[in-house]
Amino acid sequence: MPIIYHEQAKEFHLFNDEVSYIIGIMENGQMENLYYGKALRDREDFSHFHEETMRSQMSVCVPEPGLLSMHYTRQEYPVYGTGDYKSPALCIRQEDGSRITNFVYKDYKILKGKPSLAPLPATYVEDDGEGDTLEITLHDDKINTDMVLSYTIYKDYPVITRNTRFLHKGESSIVLEKAMSACVEFLDMDFEMVQLSGAWARERYVKSRRLEMGIQSIYGMNGTCGGAEHNPFMALKRPDAGEYNGEVYGFSFVYSGNFLIQTEVSTFDMTRVTAGIHPESFSWVLQKGESFQTPETVMVYSDQGLNKMSQTYHRLYRKRLMRGTWRDKARPILLNNWEATYFDFNEEKILNIAKKAKEAGVELFVLDDGWFGVRNDDYRGLGDWYANLEKLPEGISGLSRKIEDMGLKFGLWVELEMVNKDSDLYRQHPDWLVAAPGRFESHARHQHVLDFSRKEVVDYIYEMIAKILRESSISYIKWDMNRYMTEPYSRGAEPARQGEVMHRYILGVYDLYTRLTEEFPEILFESCASGGARFDPGMLYFAPQTWTSDDTDANERTKIQYGTSYVYPIVAMGSHVSAVPNHQVFRKTPISTRANIAYFGTFGYELDLNLLSDQEMEEVKKQVAFMKEYRELIQVDGDFFRLLSPFEGNDTAWQVVSQDKKQSVAMFYQKLNKVNASWLRLKVKGLQEDGLYQVILVDEPAKTYEAYGDELMYGGIPIDRMELNRRGGDFASLLFVIKKVN
Ligand code: DGJ
Repeated sequence: MPIIYHEQAKEFHLFNDEVSYIIGIMENGQMENLYYGKALRDREDFSHFHEETMRSQMSVCVPEPGLLSMHYTRQEYPVYGTGDYKSPALCIRQEDGSRITNFVYKDYKILKGKPSLAPLPATYVEDDGEGDTLEITLHDDKINTDMVLSYTIYKDYPVITRNTRFLHKGESSIVLEKAMSACVEFLDMDFEMVQLSGAWARERYVKSRRLEMGIQSIYGMNGTCGGAEHNPFMALKRPDAGEYNGEVYGFSFVYSGNFLIQTEVSTFDMTRVTAGIHPESFSWVLQKGESFQTPETVMVYSDQGLNKMSQTYHRLYRKRLMRGTWRDKARPILLNNWEATYFDFNEEKILNIAKKAKEAGVELFVLDDGWFGVRNDDYRGLGDWYANLEKLPEGISGLSRKIEDMGLKFGLWVELEMVNKDSDLYRQHPDWLVAAPGRFESHARHQHVLDFSRKEVVDYIYEMIAKILRESSISYIKWDMNRYMTEPYSRGAEPARQGEVMHRYILGVYDLYTRLTEEFPEILFESCASGGARFDPGMLYFAPQTWTSDDTDANERTKIQYGTSYVYPIVAMGSHVSAVPNHQVFRKTPISTRANIAYFGTFGYELDLNLLSDQEMEEVKKQVAFMKEYRELIQVDGDFFRLLSPFEGNDTAWQVVSQDKKQSVAMFYQKLNKVNASWLRLKVKGLQEDGLYQVILVDEPAKTYEAYGDELMYGGIPIDRMELNRRGGDFASLLFVIKKVN
């Protein structure tokens, strides 16, 4: 997967078998984006991709008779104030008040492998053969600052990652007011913009719209990476591209703070994409000798539609973003007590629930909110990370031992970034809130955000939680975060550096994650934020699974999990079977359907199994056994295929296929029943055309039959809708195991 510099033409060509990215050095020393798309044969000179012509009202940036104008050129990293009137990637305020910069090409380096961006999360390589990195350094003489544009191309993935770094060497300080991670410019505007947007309990719905001239963007400004509202991801797809055909470009931002991913279509039909930290709430002072590293943008190219884009993200994020003990392992089947008890529990009740879970074959019991301080409701207690001995007389260490004695692992909920005003922590340190002096302190869920931009705050919380982890037997942590940030101001930062607070806050969160995951490498971390409000790649680097949504209704979950799968591997999606009527939408769905949908995730339960009938309990035992048999395929080995979209009709279907194509599990779900309806053919994917397969309807193995891969993919699995009637009609589902027999 070479990166080649063509000296004569002054062009860099990054390419592998699937993708090409070509950059040129322009006449004014700035960098030009010449091409990004399907792999091209390498050649000496791609300068024919450069466009330059005389236009009226054009501002020219080279001496006469030159014609180079930044407004009509596709740039790698456009800066403010150059005669390019579109939204720039960079703006630097200087001591004299000027915001005009001129970064010109200085040199380049080609590195084997991929440098770490620590303390920032980023994708990585395990050996240097997996990818190469190009670092282009540009220099602004007047302020004496280097800017390094960094590109990694992976060998086996159609992936290019981007980030930008600044090193300031000048005597006078400068202020980065906008410093995006990446910019890409396309030749045309013939795209639909696809985004994952929503709100609490309906996170990551798939939305798309045709690009128009002007700016269209998604962003997050609430301190999390878009929260439940906008995920830090955008795809540009050709209007005729679908799940399995056509060109798609994905942009995923590896960060957990404020972000902006923006498209700007010029009136000359060119499309500029910029991705990075949102400039609105950001500024960063650089003194002599200081540097600033932007987070990473992961760009995926697919010429086989959205599904190929998603599978690329899944593989990359599963193998080269997630880390640690749990990266390559199937996940334990857990039971979480939140929806079973909320705050109303004591040790006896917990042990009772855990005992029944053990009987069902569950492996991990998770104690959720309410175990600490005076936390009997959500008005108080956050920050006091010691057990409530009235509820748990022997503390967490005693409870964890008792749970382990039952043969279960023990997991614990925490919300380390938050504090209630009714807590010992707040009473001792009232100035540790993120809050602006003399201004109203907005509250949300009666709680406030601790100022993680300050090291002493992170140190304190670390000691408190590490003590519990050292003293007890804890195998899993659910790290929750239940409110967005307001009045962003730190009493620990000087006035000129207040623009740094939101980024420094996230660096504090990453620091705490780093310390805890290093000291307790065996613990499985699951991130969470009022459900799925912090489902971003930055989090996955530290916590290899995320609670997908507080909405545990099976029907709602089809949309949430379908949308989430655009970027995130299903092993990252926390998914549980919960009680009916569902606590969020009050809907009753069959327990089989709740499991059939939750299988395509981490799988677990979120209810008191003691309240189920004997028949339901038997079903739960079978579900647990099924997941134990197939979780290696579903979570570790398989590729995920979306078959029928809940955003487009009454039916949802998806499927996982093993790498060797010998095994597959497919799920079909219908929202509402149809009367006297025709049969349906579920066309599956990813099988070997001439392979003979057994098709097993999981709860009715007597109906097993054999068919070749091509029959199943092009003819489909016939589904008699009467079959669905027998399973309750509305909200019924079918689960198929497809096994190769020859
Ligand atoms: C929000 C989470 O999403 C829930 O699962 C639960 O942990 C509650 N917080 C507890 O307060």
